Amino acid sequence: MPNRLVSPDRLRAAFAGLAAVILATLQACSTVPDDAPAETTARGNPHRGDPQRIATGEAAYAQSCARCHGEDASKPGPAADLRLIGRYCGRLDDARLKQRCMLDADAFFLKSVEEGKVRLDIRHMPAWKGQLSIDQVWSIQAYVESRRK
Ligand code: HEC
Repeated sequence: MPNRLVSPDRLRAAFAGLAAVILATLQACSTVPDDAPAETTARGNPHRGDPQRIATGEAAYAQSCARCHGEDASKPGPAADLRLIGRYCGRLDDARLKQRCMLDADAFFLKSVEEGKVRLDIRHMPAWKGQLSIDQVWSIQAYVESRRK
């Protein structure tokens, strides 16, 4: 057996490790959460304007979001006014542009809630993934939108 610097076995193990890291990174970067039915996220919020979902969302908002984002989503709190997200999509005339704008706003809303907010290593908002289902997040968003003037 010749004395090689790197044995083929070690090389193979290193590549397998690298592949696993790349795969894990790709999964971590994916914006669609792995437990989400593809439809739910690809089509955006399916509960927009649904009175029953708005009622569910109101309760969840009061319990989890109001202390930072403002009581009943209509008074300013210490954190961002959530009613503004996607608000200007409504001004677009082109139906396809409007739809893309809303999808983008929905994806941003969902991602913000699931991952929370960290800036300069300081966590400003907790991550809700695992505590709120995607369905609950959509209901909260539907409620927030119903509070727009
Ligand atoms: C502990 C306080 C706190 C709680 C509780 C909280 N948030 Fe936040 N949230 C923040 C802060 C602060 C920001 C702004 C952070 C930033 O911009 O870096 C934020 C940002 C967001 C954003 C992005 C807003 C934007 O325009 O950039 C969304 C969406 C959001 N929160 C939704 C929610 C929802 C829904 C809940 C309840 C499930 C919730 N948050 C609970 C503090 C909180």
